[in-house]
Amino acid sequence: MCGIVAYKGKKNCYPILINGLKKLEYRGYDSAGIACISGKGNITISKRSGKVKQLEETLKKNNVHKKCTGTGIAHTRWATHGRPNQVNSHPHNDQSGSIVLVHNGIIENYDPIKKFLKSKNIKFKSETDTEVLVQLIGYFYNKGKLTFEQSVRAALQRVDGAYAIVVLNKNEPDKMIAARKGSPLVLGINEEEFFVGSDISPIINYTQQIIYLEESQMAIIGEKDYEIKSIEKDISLPKVVEKIDYKIDDYDKGKFKFFMHKEIHEQVDTISNTIIGRTKGHNVLLNGLMEYWSQIESASKIYITACGTSWHAGLIGKNLIERFSEVPVHVEYASEFRYNKILVDNDSVVIAISQSGETADTLAAIKKANDYGAITIGICNVPGSSISRETDCGVFTRCGHEVGVASTKAFTAQISILYLFALKLAYVKKQISKSAMKAHLDFASSVTKVKSILRKENYIKKIASKYKNASDFLYLGRGLNFPVALEGALKLKEISYIHAEGYPAAEMKHGPIALVDKNMPNVFIVPKDKTYDKIISNIEEIKSRKGKIIIITDSKEKVLKDLANDLIVVPKTNHYMFCILATIVLQLFAYYIAVGKKLNVDQPRNLAKSVTVE
Ligand code: F6R
Repeated sequence: MCGIVAYKGKKNCYPILINGLKKLEYRGYDSAGIACISGKGNITISKRSGKVKQLEETLKKNNVHKKCTGTGIAHTRWATHGRPNQVNSHPHNDQSGSIVLVHNGIIENYDPIKKFLKSKNIKFKSETDTEVLVQLIGYFYNKGKLTFEQSVRAALQRVDGAYAIVVLNKNEPDKMIAARKGSPLVLGINEEEFFVGSDISPIINYTQQIIYLEESQMAIIGEKDYEIKSIEKDISLPKVVEKIDYKIDDYDKGKFKFFMHKEIHEQVDTISNTIIGRTKGHNVLLNGLMEYWSQIESASKIYITACGTSWHAGLIGKNLIERFSEVPVHVEYASEFRYNKILVDNDSVVIAISQSGETADTLAAIKKANDYGAITIGICNVPGSSISRETDCGVFTRCGHEVGVASTKAFTAQISILYLFALKLAYVKKQISKSAMKAHLDFASSVTKVKSILRKENYIKKIASKYKNASDFLYLGRGLNFPVALEGALKLKEISYIHAEGYPAAEMKHGPIALVDKNMPNVFIVPKDKTYDKIISNIEEIKSRKGKIIIITDSKEKVLKDLANDLIVVPKTNHYMFCILATIVLQLFAYYIAVGKKLNVDQPRNLAKSVTVE
């Protein structure tokens, strides 16, 4: 995982690197570091465990920020190999101290290479796979037969796995080498000034001239010019520079203590932003899909692939698409899709859902779908992201920067897009009438109901405070609300560290009910729909085993009041919008439990916003 940013130019690299790291912290935040190199070849490495803010404080205290030069590399880490301590933090250098490197990815064959290097008397300081790579480059370079560039190439040809790297060499201070395989890397180009980043976020406010390095390419960046070459062979490749017309606004917490809280509140606007301009009367307009629409419309099956919260959105998407348009939909975890036998062909549509657009497994799944000839659609939030570029076509969720590690507004935006997609497909297949379309679209764009959930915030906070010391939760829902239950449980787990499981409400009888006792809270999601009576029976089953009952419903019936220890009633809407309202309740519930436990809601332990390794 991890985020990389690098600069080569005439400015002091420090502000560019430190601000870049802050933008990349979504890729990992357990340690961070910076190395810069002077024209005379002095390398200064500063790194520490903890967040980028802590690195910034240390660098300021030691006046490093004033001494930085015009060439530097920086890294924010999510530990894969080796604990998140100072020694394992990047940048790493080789034994001679000549070569220094930052790396995103995993070197899978690090063990045999390490054994080989040890046999050559190379001593290792860290437990990381990354140090193996930098030592291997140093090994080739210090033998004196290969140039810096040849040494990097030779080392990369021997490693398996995924990497995006930037390397400096104190003996060639005017050169910076970047390379990628599996993990993304972009170059930003200005006159006599170059940037490298894991994505465009640390770069795009300085230059719009961007090169997305392709698989197995390296960039050799000099003082005034640069070359793109292949890692396999020493041949120059064309420079494909794209103009990316996009700026990243500074995004702060405003009046909120945590980004997650702000992002929950933003849903009043983000849900409608996602929809605005995409409906006209009874019509859905998804311009990003139009080039491929005839193939999409006639596809015999649809796959949805994603991870985590986005996968939960995919489950809701399946339900909506199958209900409205009767096209079969398979939802696969991207990490399974990429290795399982999947019956995708050129008559299939594969939809990848990803907030960041950088999740490694989802990216790999979409590459596989492309290879199988499917039409690939991206539902992403970040323009210019790898998944949005790899897919044939797509729709952006347009919900703005999401910083809180626990995804909130992206999830409801993804559901909104899937809702529009399902309706559009049903309409062209003549499965739904004009008037039904109009009614659905009116519901989809109505935000007043979201506001009314936020007005219940203090009530939800009070309920959360009662349960903050529970050690296990069950979340139970049926149909469309089974994925909502999964999502509620995931939100709670990731930010409060309380164990929670989501289940289809009736399925809980087949095992999980054994967990139920008087201490166990059970969150039921109960819309007044055709499964209402069935779910009441499920609640009775838990109640008779003394479990605590929390109910989220749009029904005012007395039976629910009688059954519930705590009852949260949301406004009446249609079944599909109910999911969104119930989700927002569950987001607030998880948020207040975590706040009650005084946890860092925005950056929970062990997690990263974007999982860029498999
Ligand atoms: C949970 C969460 C994760 C992500 C997952 C996929 O709150 O945020 O489960 O949903 O890592 O990330 P994206 O959507 O960026 O592909």
